[in-house]
Amino acid sequence: MSVLPILTLGDPRLRLRGEPVETFNKLLHHLIDDLTDTMRHAPGVGLAAPQLGEALNVCVVEVGDRLLELVNPRIVRAEGDDRDLEGCLSIPGFVAYVTRREHVWVVAQNRLGRKYKVAGTGLLGRALQHELDHLQGKLYIDYLASPDELIPVGRGGDDEDESDVDAELERRGIDPEKAKAVSRA
Ligand code: NI
Repeated sequence: MSVLPILTLGDPRLRLRGEPVETFNKLLHHLIDDLTDTMRHAPGVGLAAPQLGEALNVCVVEVGDRLLELVNPRIVRAEGDDRDLEGCLSIPGFVAYVTRREHVWVVAQNRLGRKYKVAGTGLLGRALQHELDHLQGKLYIDYLASPDELIPVGRGGDDEDESDVDAELERRGIDPEKAKAVSRA
């Protein structure tokens, strides 16, 4: 399987809606494996098919050591609100505060077409909502009132002075490690 390039903001394919998956064949398994390899290589906590240029209802989420392969996922129940930092592998170098549901229940199919249900709170709940948004052509920045709400977290390049970025995050009362961890959805 392969690590593939992740499309970034400005590529119109990020705005396509994922088509429902009806055939659970080798092509689907190949796509899911590519999503997983590319997410882990980033590294990230989630990746959706449109981010690889495939307009299909497929995404992966990995928080902790639990890998979720989600085909045709939909939120069936949600409770509470949770405002926290969030970022995206397609918008490298930034995070912002986004209000999400605090607890979500998702029904999806696995790679064989079998239905299952998963519940998530915290980072898992946020990652599920974030990836499901990707399948609707939606990005977290769509929730921001202004681009000024974007907070730079650095891109991890060799040529940047990470201490400047960290100092600015701390000035805003943000833990730099946490900001970098959530910047990868
Ligand atoms: Ni994303």
